[in-house]
Order: sequence, then structure tokens, then C-alpha cells
Amino acid sequence: MAVTIQLFRRATQWPKKAPGAQFGTIQIAFSGVESYQIAIAVRKLVGVWERGEIGPDMIRNTPSSWGSLARAFHWGLGITIFGMIAYGWWMNHFPARPDRFFHRSIHADIGYLVLLLTVLRLVWRGINPTPALPSDTTRWQRIAARVSHGALYAVTILVATLGWAHSGAHKPDYSSWFGLFHVPQITSPDKAAADAYEDRHIFFAYVLLALIVLHLAAALWHHFVKRDRVTARMVDGAAG
Ligand code: HEM
Ligand code: HEM
Repeated sequence: MAVTIQLFRRATQWPKKAPGAQFGTIQIAFSGVESYQIAIAVRKLVGVWERGEIGPDMIRNTPSSWGSLARAFHWGLGITIFGMIAYGWWMNHFPARPDRFFHRSIHADIGYLVLLLTVLRLVWRGINPTPALPSDTTRWQRIAARVSHGALYAVTILVATLGWAHSGAHKPDYSSWFGLFHVPQITSPDKAAADAYEDRHIFFAYVLLALIVLHLAAALWHHFVKRDRVTARMVDGAAG
């Protein structure tokens, strides 16, 4: 099978110094691939789509499983948030003083992104079913799961917002997003306010770390003690 593509080019246009060139012809030959083979491959792909093996159904949650987007949000943000706590601690204790503004700017830029993605994640959660916990889950366990997950979301948003507030109150601020554009600031320069936001930003970052440790303990308990599929379903996306 051969595909012929003709490129028309007016002689007076580019390249200007080649008036003789009217058009060019590119010929691509797929040696050994016949059109019926392509048709079979396309038909197979359509079949995979129709059976729901790929497609929008995989992206969404079901009443018993986490879809691929919710899992991507969970692991992408989980690793980034944990990394932000480690980076925040490191940048405040190790680099030489003149380098700290650089690291704090990078930290702030990733922090704005965490805030935006957490809000988008909550919107996605709102328009999707949340997988139910196993039927033998006791009342207090259901409450503990609800409260701790709510706290993870709320404290993440609080920490990032306090960082943002600190940025606007600090001089110079951390508003340049990787040097590409300015993030609007929600506070104005004020040394005392900047110090207060900074203290609270750091305090709640460690509250968040404590919540993550608890969360990790609960995940390990589900997997190794209770031996249900609650932890596994956040990894493989299968029902549990
Ligand atoms: C969820 C997202 C965030 C997390 C988990 C986080 C975490 C942290 C941590 C752990 C520290 C330092 C703690 C220490 O010194 O021991 C820190 C410091 C800092 N963070 Fe964040 N942060 C986040 C978002 C942001 C955002 C959005 C901004 C700014 C827009 C920001 C600006 C800063 C600054 C400027 C410092 C240094 C404060 C100082 O001068 O001491 N952070 N952050
Ligand atoms: C190794 C680390 C982690 C493991 C094994 C883990 C495991 C899990 C599992 C199994 C669930 C689902 C619970 C269910 O099906 O009802 C979950 C939910 C959740 N995780 Fe994690 N997680 C980890 C780290 C994190 C981190 C660092 C964060 C940071 C904020 C986080 C935030 C959340 C939130 C907010 C939910 C609730 C999801 C929802 O109901 O919308 N996780 N996690």
C-alpha cells in the first residue's frame, strides 16, 4: 500500500529564492502492511472500547472501585504533598541563606499547583460515586475514615492557603510562577502578618504530616490485619 501526499507550494512564496519549485511530492510506502490488516487492527481497538476495557468508564469511579483519574489524583498529589513537607523542611534548614529564596520560590510554585489540583480533585469527587467501605465496617470506623479523609483535604487546602497568604505579606513575595506569570496575591506586604502566616503554615504542615502517618497506618491495617481490599483497590482500581 502506498500513500501519496502532495505538497502544493506557490512559486512566489517560501522559499522565496526558488521560483521554479511549483509543488513537491512525498511518497510514503508501508511495505508489507496491507489495508485489510489495518482494518482488522482498528476493528479490534473498537471492540476493546465497546467492551469498556478502555474508555470513559475506566476514568470514573463506581460504587465499589476507584477510577483511574481518582487514583492518579490520589497518588500524584499524595507523593507531591509528602515531598513538599520534606522539601519545605530541607529548604529551611540546609541550603546557604542566599539560596533560600530560590528554593522557597520553587516550593511556592509547586504549592499553588497542589492547591489547584486539590480543588479539581474535590470537584471530581463531587461528580463521581465514592466507593463504599466493606459491609462489615463498624460505625466508629466509618466515622474515623470520613473525619480523617475530610481532614486531609481541609488541612492540605489550609496549609497551601497559609503559604499563599505568607507570600503576599512577605517582601519580596513568591508570586512569579516559575518565571512565567504572576499569581495574584491574596494579602498585602506586612512584616508582622507574614511572620504569623509563616508560623501557622509550618504548624499546619506538621499537622498534615501527622494525619498522613495515621492514614498510612490505617492503610497498612486494612491490608495486613483486616486483610480486605480497601488498600488494594486504591492501587489496582478493581472492585473491593
Ligand atoms: C500543601 C502544600 C504545602 C506544603 C505541604 C508546605 C509545607 C511546608 C513546610 C513543611 C515548610 C517548612 C517547615 C520547616 O521549616 O520546618 C514550608 C515553608 C514554606 N512554605 Fe510551604 N507548603 C505548601 C505550600 C506552600 C505555598 C502554596 C506557598 C506559597 C505560595 C508556600 C510557601 C512557603 C514558604 C515561603 C516557606 C518558608 C517560610 C519561611 O520563611 O520560614 N508553601 N512549607
Ligand atoms: C503510602 C501512602 C498512602 C497509602 C497506602 C494510601 C492509601 C489510601 C487508600 C487505600 C485510600 C482509600 C480508602 C477507601 O477506599 O475508602 C485513600 C484515600 C485517601 N487518601 Fe491516601 N494513601 C497514602 C498516602 C496519602 C497521602 C500522602 C495523602 C495526602 C494528602 C492521601 C490522601 C488521601 C485522601 C484525601 C483520601 C480520601 C479519598 C476520598 O475519599 O476522596 N493519601 N488512601
